[in-house]
Amino acid sequence: MALVRTLIDCDKEYAESVLPRELKDLYDGDLRFPASPPARPFVIANFVSTLDGVVSYEIKGKSAGSAISASDPADRFIMGLLRASADAVMIGAGTLLDVSAKGLWTPEYVYPDAKRLYADYRLSALHKPEYPLLVIVSGSGRLDLQRAVFRTPAMRAVVLTTSAGMDELARRGAPALASVEAHALSAGGSIAPQAILELLHLQYGVRTLLHEGGPTLFGQFLAAQAVDELFLTLSPQIAGRERDVARPAVVQGVQFLPDSAPWFQMLSVKQKAAYLYLRYRRS
Ligand SMILES: NC(=O)c1ccc[n+]([C@@H]2O[C@H](COP(=O)([O-])OP(=O)(O)OC[C@H]3O[C@@H](n4cnc5c(N)ncnc54)[C@H](OP(=O)(O)O)[C@@H]3O)[C@@H](O)[C@H]2O)c1
Repeated sequence: MALVRTLIDCDKEYAESVLPRELKDLYDGDLRFPASPPARPFVIANFVSTLDGVVSYEIKGKSAGSAISASDPADRFIMGLLRASADAVMIGAGTLLDVSAKGLWTPEYVYPDAKRLYADYRLSALHKPEYPLLVIVSGSGRLDLQRAVFRTPAMRAVVLTTSAGMDELARRGAPALASVEAHALSAGGSIAPQAILELLHLQYGVRTLLHEGGPTLFGQFLAAQAVDELFLTLSPQIAGRERDVARPAVVQGVQFLPDSAPWFQMLSVKQKAAYLYLRYRRS
C-alpha cells in the first residue's frame, strides 16, 4: 500500500526504471536519476521544513529534523529511499552533532520497516555496496569519535577537513579507526564544494551524492551551483522566529540577489494527510 499519494509527476524523461515494484508501490511512482555529469557526482539534497521555512528549532535535544517532521513515517521512508539510491550521503559537522550518538546514515536506520526492500534495491537492482559511504565535512575536526558512525565496521566514514582538522582528528585517535578515513582538502578555512565533489568522484567513484545538510553546508553547495535536485518535505507546522534567535532555514550563511537566486523546476509533488513531499530540479 502506498505511503504517499502522487499529485503531480513530471519526471518522465529518463530511461528504464530499476526501482523494485514494492518500493514503487510505497512511493506511488518511480524514482530515477540522470547519469552523473562528467566530472562530479549528481547531487540530490533532502530537507524537511515547517510551513514557515524553519529546519531546526536550535533547542538542545530538539534540533534534529525529526522535531520538524514529527518523525512522519512517509518522510522517513523517502529519506531511506534516497539513502538507498545514493553512493554516498554527506552531512556537515553541525548536523552530526544534533543526531543521537547511536545515529547511522543507513537507509534502514530512518525507516526499519523497509530494510529488506532497500537492501534488495541497492544490491540487486543498483549493484551498489550494502551501505552508502558517509561523508562528514568538518573544518575544525572537532568530532566525537565515540559516535556509532565511527565505530561500525560495516560502514565507511570519510571525514573531509582542513590541515588543522587533520591534526585535531589525529589527536582524537581517528587513525586507529579502521572504517574511518580523513582527507585535508584545504589549508585552512572553508573547504570548496568543488574540491569535495572532485575527491568523491575520483577517489571514491561516487556517482550519486545525497546531501543531507545542514543549511550551512547546503548553502555553500547551492552557491557553487553544485546541487542538482532538492527533495523537500513540507511539514504542517509553524515554528516562528524571535527577532534575535536564529532558527535556520534550508540555506544558512549565504544569500542570493533576485537576479542570481537559483530557480528550480518541479519534478513531483506527493502528499500524505497535511504533509507535502516536493521534488525540484535546478533549472
Ligand atoms: N530539517 C532538516 O531537514 C535538517 C537537515 C539537516 C540539518 N538540520 C539541522 O540543521 C542544524 C545544523 O545546521 P548547520 O548549518 O550548523 O549544519 P551543518 O552545515 O551540518 O554544519 C556546519 C558545520 O559543518 C562544517 N562545515 C560546513 N561547511 C563547511 C565547509 N565548506 N568547510 C569546512 N567545514 C564545513 C563546519 O564544521 P566545524 O565547525 O567542525 O568546522 C560547520 O560548523 C541542526 O540543528 C540540524 O539538525 C535540519
